[in-house]
Amino acid sequence: MKILVTGGAGYIGSHTVIELVKAGHEAVILDNFSNSRPEVLKRLEKITGTAIRCYEADIRDREALEKVFSANSFDCCIHFAGLKAVGESVIKPWEYYDNNIGGTLVLLDVMRKHSCKNIIFSSSATVYGNPTTVPISEECPKGKCTNPYGQTKSMLEEILTDLHTADIKTNNPNCWNIVLLRYFNPIGAHKSGLIGEDPKGIPNNLMPYITQVAVGKLACLTVFGDDYDTPDGTGIRDYIHVVDLAKGHVKALSAIEKKCGVAVYNLGTGTGYSVLDIVHAFEKANSVTIPYKIGPRRPGDIAVCYSNPEKAARELGWVAENTIVDMCRDSWNWQKNNPDGF
Ligand code: NAD
Ligand code: WQD
Repeated sequence: MKILVTGGAGYIGSHTVIELVKAGHEAVILDNFSNSRPEVLKRLEKITGTAIRCYEADIRDREALEKVFSANSFDCCIHFAGLKAVGESVIKPWEYYDNNIGGTLVLLDVMRKHSCKNIIFSSSATVYGNPTTVPISEECPKGKCTNPYGQTKSMLEEILTDLHTADIKTNNPNCWNIVLLRYFNPIGAHKSGLIGEDPKGIPNNLMPYITQVAVGKLACLTVFGDDYDTPDGTGIRDYIHVVDLAKGHVKALSAIEKKCGVAVYNLGTGTGYSVLDIVHAFEKANSVTIPYKIGPRRPGDIAVCYSNPEKAARELGWVAENTIVDMCRDSWNWQKNNPDGF
């Protein structure tokens, strides 16, 4: 299949491009490099042995998208492009609604005009809000998102579903096929150490913070709260290797090919680890010490979040394969080889 990968220069997108090429697909990247660098393209070529075509463009730029869709006949779009920092979204809500929702609306309009109505969308476990039970399956009701970022993911799921519903109601023979992938906590990096997560400024997320402490760029990790109702008091999450996550997108193409309508899948491992579990696993896997101190809870954080990934296993034949040791080792391999990112 020929696939447009919006945001394909970013962390998850770049790893997905590799898996697409490995599986024999043609990937075309569209990215405005607002949170990534063109250098990633050279690295992708080195890893895949293929020059990946990339359009530098913004998904809000209708004219640019028109040109891209006129020059290519895409079978599917994997849509990663968007802003993703939870805290920033509280301070800059307009930018998040404009980029994530406004941009996606332009993309969807251009897609339908060019009769490309197959899309795999990067959603997030954040749409479940504070879950009432764990593990979280796709049937669990969506929860209240406490920040504009989460709202954009939840709203885009609704918007995409409405498009499909309208096709059914009007007996449109060319229906939208939509896969909503709800990612849990992606960490790790490609085994080559050539690509990985490259956050701008001080990282918000746990693993890049830990790797930057390990490499000496940051002095000490602050653990956000040790008074949660969990075995060691620190927050529990479902960390998933980014390469497993990337492979989930390749598997999701099979749902698109089967004309799935709207299909929702959790992409997680099904296992929860606490913040201190991760710190200790990282130390052990890499023979390094991570200085840490306990701080107050981070506003908006929940205690426990991990997936039930059985639906993706059953319907897509996808199961996460990498262990927490693999994730810690590969995160460190990327960071130590690229102390200043790309
Ligand atoms: P990322 O920031 O590394 O990648 C996003 C890419 O999109 C970047 O290369 C950026 O330059 C590009 N981009 C942003 N706005 C754009 C625009 N208007 N036009 C064109 N390109 C644009 O983020 P990521 O971690 O790879 O996340 C990819 C997707 O997955 C995002 O939609 C994110 O919300 C979602 N997601 C991420 C996580 C996570 O923890 N990383 C978890 C759940 C969901
Ligand atoms: C993990 C755990 C923190 C940093 C976020 C988004 C979510 C999704 C994934 C996009 C928590 C603790 C963290 C630190 C810490 N993104 N922590 N010290 O919050 O589960 O999810 O990224 O969709 O929407 O909310 O991930 O990596 O920030 O935190 O103690 O310096 O690590 O409190 O328990 P989170 P995270």
